[in-house]
Amino acid sequence: MKKILSIALLLFVFCISAQSIQSPSKQILLDFGLTENGRPTYSVTFKNKTVILQSALGIYLKDGSNLATNFSSEGIKNITFNENWKPVLGEQASIINHYNEMKVALSQAGTNRKMNIIFKVYDEGVAFRYEFPKQKDLNYFIIKEEKTEFNLAGNHKTFWIPGDYDSQEYPYEETKLSEINTDNVNLNNGIGLKTIFSKYAVQSPLMMKSEDGIYINIFEAAVVNYPVMHLDVNPKTYALTSHLVPNSIGDKAYLQTPCVSPWRTIMVSDDARDIIGSKMILNLNEPSKIDDTSWIKPMKYVGIWWEMHVGKSTWDYAGSQNAQNVLTQDLIPSGKHGANTANTKRYIDFAAKHGFDGVLVEGWNVGWEDWFGNWKEDVFDFITPYPDYNLAEINAYATSKGIKMIMHHETSSSVANYERHLDRALELMKKYGYPAAKSGYVGRIIPRGEFHDGQTMVNHYNFVARRFADYKMMVNSHESSRPTGYHRTYPNYIAAEAARGNEFNAWSNGNPPMHETILPFTRLLGGPMDYTPGIFEIKMNYYDKSKKEQVHTTLAKQLALYITMYSPLQMAADLPENYEKYPDAFQFIKDVAVDWQDSKYLEAEPGDYLTVARKDKQSENWFLGAITDENARNSEIKLDFLSPNTKYKATIYQDGKTAHWEKNPVNYEIKTLTVTSKSKLKLVLAAGGGTAVSFTPIN
Ligand code: NOJ
Ligand code: CA
Repeated sequence: MKKILSIALLLFVFCISAQSIQSPSKQILLDFGLTENGRPTYSVTFKNKTVILQSALGIYLKDGSNLATNFSSEGIKNITFNENWKPVLGEQASIINHYNEMKVALSQAGTNRKMNIIFKVYDEGVAFRYEFPKQKDLNYFIIKEEKTEFNLAGNHKTFWIPGDYDSQEYPYEETKLSEINTDNVNLNNGIGLKTIFSKYAVQSPLMMKSEDGIYINIFEAAVVNYPVMHLDVNPKTYALTSHLVPNSIGDKAYLQTPCVSPWRTIMVSDDARDIIGSKMILNLNEPSKIDDTSWIKPMKYVGIWWEMHVGKSTWDYAGSQNAQNVLTQDLIPSGKHGANTANTKRYIDFAAKHGFDGVLVEGWNVGWEDWFGNWKEDVFDFITPYPDYNLAEINAYATSKGIKMIMHHETSSSVANYERHLDRALELMKKYGYPAAKSGYVGRIIPRGEFHDGQTMVNHYNFVARRFADYKMMVNSHESSRPTGYHRTYPNYIAAEAARGNEFNAWSNGNPPMHETILPFTRLLGGPMDYTPGIFEIKMNYYDKSKKEQVHTTLAKQLALYITMYSPLQMAADLPENYEKYPDAFQFIKDVAVDWQDSKYLEAEPGDYLTVARKDKQSENWFLGAITDENARNSEIKLDFLSPNTKYKATIYQDGKTAHWEKNPVNYEIKTLTVTSKSKLKLVLAAGGGTAVSFTPIN
């Protein structure tokens, strides 16, 4: 009896003390509790400063019941986990996954329902998810809303985009939490699609900085069979609450036990570099489900793409003014069709000459005359080329030159249609040896009423990645929901756009110079972005005197983006003829690696600047990229990341003396230096500018 009592006492002590857990470094502390009415809560501190005040957890169901109140704890289990794993492609060759975990088993009085909350505390932040075990009293259920609170401790500076169910293609606003209000924002995102449910709602990842210099990021990981989480903001109390994206009838998620929610994540540090260097989001996803990953390869590519965005050619063959005729008569060529056989061969020649891996061709298939506006459900079949595009000839030519073609599947958001045709589309790719496709989801979703970020669409994007894996092919999705690390599980999901890419600079008010200093703190936390850098002909009046649009950059900054904007799939987005005008600067794009042994985040401040160095996975070469916002910037960095006792030739591509993103964007200079790990390098960045450096060991 005495023994039983002492075990019980021990357990009791264990439970009480186990209500909090610390990060391995002990700097982050998470406290769990239950309120008087049995509502689970948590709070977070970092170095003894409050990051998240007591915040409630829980889920409300469509049938009026909830998984939020009347809970009592049935026990708490703590473990420590530490492993090292190797991503197939990535910013570093191996990743440490080290955290302390606390699993709280809850049971609900009156209903007998069970729910677990699993907390993981890493050195860079905390994560938690809801787990719904298989049980008699909770089989199928419909979520009306998840009410996960993130009660912030101050009126932080915040980088945000409006809570839009259909698009993340917005420039970031930089305001205090109290100033979040979409009434004060230009909501014309350039694509005429918006579904904004509240003026006080924002998307995640949400990047913030407190007045005393703490960086906080709220996001999610492993969004699988669940909608995307947006955040409702209370601008008076600085309380954020999860807001799941609904379906056409307002339901949020349909689940069947056993199941889990995605991880809710709060990254925190007093050093901004820790946020972008964190691998927490990837670590929270399941390991690769693809055994043989030898066919998953990084790619640098060019394509018939920018020429359509700048208006030099068109996607369609007949001119979209002929859209109505497509149903009834043969297509009459407009003479401006970009994706023709001769032009494609020109790009293949260019790619082969300069050592690229692939060529993307958009506008190759029938349907572009009436792709926009989605009144036609079966707009594309993904297999029928236009009459001037000879698939067999092009692919044979590409093979003879050692170039891989990249397929394009614009779905025009007619998603059911895409799923119907997907296997045939993949068979066609297999027949001609395509290793990858870029997909796109422009416009409103069909089935009508669904949103890009809803549960059904999340399942669609993930299904497409899995089906591509069945065919040993890679996919790069545009206008999909933003990634949350699923590429750890399906590494063939090689990249996504899912934010405002470089293309907006061609035909809208574009991306302000600070845009690329924010994306690594937001969109890129979830996975690689196909941002399509490398624009050398920066002002659009080059193509048409009346145009005012421009890329908000210097030429040197476009080079630096290959390093600061991580992706194993990188495009050299400009036209071949534009690269041929600047062969010395183009050399950096030819040389730069896209898959990395190691990455060092040397300087970072969201909205201001970023300096990153990365080591090629295949060689001893290092590359560095530094970018700034609209302010010019000087700094000096230590090159102590280089291998000791080795001399390197540093080739520095930097802004020229009079460079300025608006006044003189193409002004650049290139110089070479001999450096070692003991050297320091002065960086001189123009307003809206950047520096790119390649380091090659001298034998
Ligand atoms: C939007 C994509 O982001 C862009 O890259 C593509 O060219 C167009 N859709 C057409 O598919
Ligand atoms: Ca896009």
